[in-house]
Parts: sequence; C-alpha cells; structure tokens
Amino acid sequence: MAAPSPRYFIRTYGCQMNERDSEIMAGQLEELGYERAHGADDADFIVINTCAVRASAEAHAFGYIGQLKAMKDARPHLKIAVSGCSAQEPGTISYLKKHASHVDLVFGTHNLHQLPMLLERVDAEREMVVDVWKASGEVAENLPSRRAEGVAAFVNIIYGCDKFCTYCIVPFTRGREQSRRLPDIVAEVTSLAQEGFEDVTLLGQNVNSYGHDLEPALDLADLLRAVEEVPQVRWLRYLTSHPRDFSPRLIETIAASTKITHHVHLPVQSGSSAVLRKMNRKYTRDQYLNLIAQVKKAIPDAVLTTDIIVGFPGETAEDFEATLDLVRQVEYDAAFTFIYSPREGTPANRWEGRWPVPEMEKKERLNRLMELQYAISLAKNQAWIGRTDVVLVEGPSRKDPDVWACRSQTNKVVLVPREPGVELKNRFIPVRVTGARTFFLSAEQVGDPLPILAGTRRVPLPVL
Ligand code: SAH
Ligand code: SF4
Ligand code: F3S
Repeated sequence: MAAPSPRYFIRTYGCQMNERDSEIMAGQLEELGYERAHGADDADFIVINTCAVRASAEAHAFGYIGQLKAMKDARPHLKIAVSGCSAQEPGTISYLKKHASHVDLVFGTHNLHQLPMLLERVDAEREMVVDVWKASGEVAENLPSRRAEGVAAFVNIIYGCDKFCTYCIVPFTRGREQSRRLPDIVAEVTSLAQEGFEDVTLLGQNVNSYGHDLEPALDLADLLRAVEEVPQVRWLRYLTSHPRDFSPRLIETIAASTKITHHVHLPVQSGSSAVLRKMNRKYTRDQYLNLIAQVKKAIPDAVLTTDIIVGFPGETAEDFEATLDLVRQVEYDAAFTFIYSPREGTPANRWEGRWPVPEMEKKERLNRLMELQYAISLAKNQAWIGRTDVVLVEGPSRKDPDVWACRSQTNKVVLVPREPGVELKNRFIPVRVTGARTFFLSAEQVGDPLPILAGTRRVPLPVL
C-alpha cells in the first residue's frame, strides 16, 4: 500500500489578499502531493498566514501560534510555518526565535512562490528557517492555486501600496506598488470564467493606482472595461479603493456597466480635514464629499460603504464630531469602524506617545459612531423592501439551515427561505426583498435560477 499523502492546514488572518496568498500556498502544496487536512489536528504541515494591520489581528495569530506548541510536542514530525504580513515586520523574527521555537519556517509576502524549496530546507536544516524578502522581484505568474469552493474568485491586479498613510503598516509589509500586466489578468479571468467562476473580484490594497507603473500606462477603468468583455463573467467587483484616485472616468465606467458592481467602497478614515492631513490621506473633507456627490449623481443606486478610524493621535472632540457629521451626510450603507492601533515603524506611532486619545474616550467614540451607523444601515436596508434583485446563493445559513445565505452584487447579505429538495448552492436567483435588519435583508425567490454561463462548478438542478 502506498504511504498516505501528507496533509496541510492553512489558517488565514487579515484581508482578501492574504486569502488569495493562502490559495496559492495550497496550490503549491497540492502539487507537491499534499492533501488538504480537515483541521490542524490531522495536519502534517500548518501555515499561519498572519495580518499586521492592527494589534488585535496580530494578537490572534500569535495566540494561535502559541497554542500549537503542545501539538508539536505531541507530534514532533509536525511542521509549522509563519507567513504573511507579520513575518515582514522586523520584530517578529526575534520574537518567534525567543518565544516560539516550535516554528520551523518563517517566510514573507514576497516569496511565497518559493514554498516548495523552503520546505526542502526545513527538512535539511535543524534551525528555524527564516527567509523574508524586503521587496518583491518580478511578479510571479502562473503559480498553481487551490481556489476556495464556490463560483467567486479573487484575482490580484496590483500588489503593494505606495500611499503611506501615517497609521498604516501595509506599505511596509507589502512593499511598493506593482501592477500585473493587463493581458495576464484578462487571461486569468477568462480561464476562471470558463471554469464557472462568474463572480470575479479584482484585488489590490489600492486598486485605483492600477497601471500607472505599466508601459504604456493604464488605469483601473481600462482594466474593468477589458475584463467586462469576458462573456462568462457575470459580476465584476474590485477591492480596495482609495478616494484620491477614484477618477471621473472610473465613475462613468461603473455607471455604464451592469457587470461592474455598483457597490462603491470609499474609505474616508476621518471627517476632519485636520486629521486627514495628519493621516496623509491626500484629500480634504470637502474633496471627499464632492467625490461622494459625483458618485451619487452618476450611480443613483450606488451602495456606499467606508472604513473609519477613531482615536487617531491628536483627534479632538470637534474632529470626531466632524466624522459623525460626515457619516450623517453621506448615509453609508455600512461602515467598518476601528479604534486606532499604533503600529511600530509608522509615523503616527511616534505621535501616539505625545498626543494619545485616552483609551476610554476611544471606546466611547467608537460606540457613538457605531450606534449612528447602525441606525443609518437599518434605514438604508429598509428602503430595499419591495425591490427585486439577483443574488448569489452561497450555501445554507449557518444559523438556520432552512434558509439560504446569499449575497447581492453590491455585497449585501440576503437570506432566502429554502424549498426542500431544491439545490441552489452557487446559483444566481432573482429575489424580492421582504424584510430588513441592520446587517442583512430577507427576501423571497421570485423566479428560476439564471442559466449557468459556463463550467462545471455547479451541481445541475434536479429535473422536476
Ligand atoms: N488599502 C485599503 C485598506 C487597508 S486596511 C485602503 O486604504 O482603504 C483596512 C482598514 O484598516 C483601513 O481602511 C483602515 O480603516 C484600517 N486601519 C489600517 N491601519 C490601521 C491602524 N493602524 N489602526 C486602526 N485601523 C487601521
Ligand atoms: Fe494603508 Fe493607506 Fe495603503 Fe490603504 S492606502 S493600505 S490605508 S497606506
Ligand atoms: Fe492585514 Fe496584510 Fe491584509 S496587514 S489587512 S493581511 S495586507
């Protein structure tokens, strides 16, 4: 009998870019003959793909790494690797060497394509193998990848970030901006779409910078127009936008398209021009509000969302009131709200020592902001009652298996009652919205699932 295949388990923290990196690691491991484990318990190789954006994200990952020590003691053949954004931080390696000697391998965001070679080194060397690059070389194309279940696919379009917002670690962990060539992206999307991935999300920390570094220079609007031409793509989304580069031509392109999502995520971070300046966001409150007005005018059904940080060093009560006022004015569908988290090596980290907002005050501001936003989110969702839309059925709801958890093209969660015996997972269905809560809509199915455009990723409907 052949020896059983070794098994891998990857625990991913952080954003979609990390999720995509984990798919590429999984693809490489499967090419080496690994199989996916059910969990850490039955794995021979565990990767912890870390996020460094806030202290809390980092603490979760490091807590998990600590827990694995007992597992390694019980099963010494187990290999453990730490990857991702925390690995790019200088302090992490010395920390791991001191406190987590059960870790066998540390690699960063720029050399995950080297995983097979690094695993060989782990077998050959007795010390912890550490190989973290400061910058990426050429963009590595055509790496194997094991995509997540379903019909939604992430496609990288630009790596890194050059914006250097003063609170943010990402430019240090992900390096300088580097766009993929347009034909490579279109080729990847075409092959995914032919396999059945109808819901494509283009990824970058700052997708609006796409193409400025290419020869000839291009922009995100050019790319969206090219990808939209792929016939089997039904939904086209992109993450994340920076307000500064959200051009009129991009707005026009989105407005004219039925494939490109009308979800517009424009992280504002603060409603105070003084704070925005200290954050190095490169726009003022008025410029941002002006942009929102343009978006609302050109795309009347736009679903607007944002990210906001409270408690940035030196944020006064008036600054915070300006944020609340902006939120009232824009009326976002949803907002991701964060308490400022000092990050080693960033400029704001030094200011936090001098002008910290007291911890209690930070929490109180966050609560007030969330309370305001929740009321607006509810009102926005209630306005959907009676409207129709098409949603993608992701699977049975975890809370109630009699209900399908679905997502709209604009990324709203929509719950639809299940009919016994009818398989709709990964299908697009027309619905009418019947109810609204702060975080989701309820709806009923009002027609047959839309035809499958291509590929074999869906179960065919049972013949009735
Ligand atoms: N590139 C994206 C977002 C990256 S991180 C963009 O610019 O929009 C996602 C969000 O985390 C940011 O928008 C910001 O609101 C938040 N964030 C980043 N660094 C942070 C920090 N040090 N403390 C608190 N929140 C932070
Ligand atoms: Fe961080 Fe700013 Fe870059 Fe976003 S744009 S990743 S917040 S530095
Ligand atoms: Fe976190 Fe790195 Fe993404 S810091 S948010 S995983 S780019």
